Amino acid sequence: MIEDMDFESRIVSPEFASFEDDAEITLRPKTFSEYIGQDKVKDNLSIYIEAAKKRKECLDHVLLYGPPGLGKTTLAGIIAREMGVNIRVTSGPAIEKQGDLVAILTALNEGDVLFIDEIHRLSRNVEEILYPAMEDFSLDIILGKGPSARSIRLDVPHFTLVGATTRSGQLTAPLRDRFGVLLRLDLYTPEQLGQIVSRSAGILGIPIDNDGALEIASRSRGTPRIANRLLKRVRDIAQIQFDGRITEQVAREALARFEIDELGLDDFDRRMLKTIITNYGGGPVGLETLSAAVGEEAVTIEDVYEPYLMQIGFLARTPRGRCVTPACYEHLGIKPMGQQSFDGV
Ligand code: ADE
Repeated sequence: MIEDMDFESRIVSPEFASFEDDAEITLRPKTFSEYIGQDKVKDNLSIYIEAAKKRKECLDHVLLYGPPGLGKTTLAGIIAREMGVNIRVTSGPAIEKQGDLVAILTALNEGDVLFIDEIHRLSRNVEEILYPAMEDFSLDIILGKGPSARSIRLDVPHFTLVGATTRSGQLTAPLRDRFGVLLRLDLYTPEQLGQIVSRSAGILGIPIDNDGALEIASRSRGTPRIANRLLKRVRDIAQIQFDGRITEQVAREALARFEIDELGLDDFDRRMLKTIITNYGGGPVGLETLSAAVGEEAVTIEDVYEPYLMQIGFLARTPRGRCVTPACYEHLGIKPMGQQSFDGV
């Protein structure tokens, strides 16, 4: 059992930390042309938006899915701006009762975007109100209880629901079926993240060269939110220990101090991978077993840690459980068991 770790405290956590609100909002691109990467998503959305505008209609409801920190909220903001409408931002867990959603929907203006983050966490009760709202822009409200209960139908303004989730598989089928556009966001390449770091540094007035930006980018787990956070922490080191300019050398030293290795793995990643190796012979090990062994929730392991470890080919999800790969052994400097005995012969 490895000790518990405060998830929010990880410098490479892709989750949004509340203290970052202002900075993150400043760095958010406001148009498709400023938004780097996710080319397929941008191309498709631009066409759908142009077509909807030509028809003078609302954009169809959009579901954005993919790992956290890739820019789902940012895209929702861009959609609203390009459509020339307002956006109302909320999240699945924040809408507790049917009445909460009724209040939000009735306060919308014609054509507005309603962004619901973590939409898979809506309660079934609330989802039921959402179905007719998405389909017919109407609400079925039950008044009273028992035999005297009656239902009234209320029209709401036409709106575009933009839902975001870490996995579309977590959505109920009736909800998923009501989205006209489903788009998956992928982890960014180091080159794309390098451009994002350079852009952010420009906005924040941080001197950085291309190699410095690329060094930060290649340790950011394919995630702009992490890249922007690392940029700010590396700036601190650059100012205090160097001349303020971020070069490859400065970035390397700063990131080594944060114990983030060349591939962006932190202490937790390494301990999780080592747990699979030392406790379970490299796998396969079931997700729940691994979750108990490392003291982290199974959904967090699945949504937050695993996508990047799978992308770099260190971890495989098999029907029998999680396995680490030879590349992972090599990176951690551990010899696979078979090889050890082979070498020893
Ligand atoms: N900041 C965060 N995500 C971004 C993106 N995709 N493009 C540009 N800047 C960003």
